[in-house]
Amino acid sequence: MEQAPHSIDELKARIDTARVPQHVAIIMDGNGRWAKQHGEHRIVGHMSGVRSVREALTGASEIGVRYLTLYAFSTENWNRPRTEVEALMDLLVKTVVDEIDELHKNSVRLNAIGDLDSLPENCRRTLNDAIARTATNDRITLTLALSYSARWEIERMVRMVADEVRSGKLDPAAINEASIADHLCTRGMPDPELLIRTSGEQRISNFLLWQIAYAELWFTPVLWPDFRKEHLYEAVLDYQNRERRFGMISEQLPAR
Ligand code: IPE
Ligand code: IPE
Ligand code: MG
Repeated sequence: MEQAPHSIDELKARIDTARVPQHVAIIMDGNGRWAKQHGEHRIVGHMSGVRSVREALTGASEIGVRYLTLYAFSTENWNRPRTEVEALMDLLVKTVVDEIDELHKNSVRLNAIGDLDSLPENCRRTLNDAIARTATNDRITLTLALSYSARWEIERMVRMVADEVRSGKLDPAAINEASIADHLCTRGMPDPELLIRTSGEQRISNFLLWQIAYAELWFTPVLWPDFRKEHLYEAVLDYQNRERRFGMISEQLPAR
């Protein structure tokens, strides 16, 4: 039996560069449990997760992923204790401020999806400045989902479509998958081919419901603050070993 590779270089070398997913989405979960295991406050778990964001981003960029979308704060996360929500917002501002030069240097384009108007004013400003500064970068697009949920996004899409129909700009008969996708926050991005969730939970928690219709799902028990490039590469290798049939049968697919 083939020995599982251990080193990051071995893992990376096994990735077929011609079949790297264009878009990887990650539900970063397990910060609270990681903190508990280390006898720390939950916020220490969130702070420790920043390194994992860096690992996921550089790892993705190195193998040629074009879009990395991270679920950072859900609509439902507003229901957490106020102190945790405030600490998360402060951490977001601090992280963007600390990392922006490095992101820009590495040609990362920063993007955000979600109900950004609901974020505190300083968050919105910091985020918008960073987004504007990196707008022409083209190596990889890093999208942070903030105050995001898929049902919020779909509700907003339906409202926009309805408005356009009412004003005569859109013919109801012309509504199709493409025009729907065009009214989602991810407009212009390819759908994620690979969705990763850490911490052992096997649910979607209201993330990108429309866009993941045909994504391959990869779950790991690793808690987000322990997530490293190796885990991303394991996920990509697993993805590359799957047969994506899109409703067809194996024999109809091009030979690999
Ligand atoms: C993910 O970690 C971060 C956010 C949802 C903001 P959690 O904070 O959900 O960690 P657990 O699930 O409590 O371990
Ligand atoms: C999902 O994680 C949201 C983010 C990762 C930002 P949660 O930890 O909030 O999800 P549930 O509540 O356990 O489903
Ligand atoms: Mg959680």
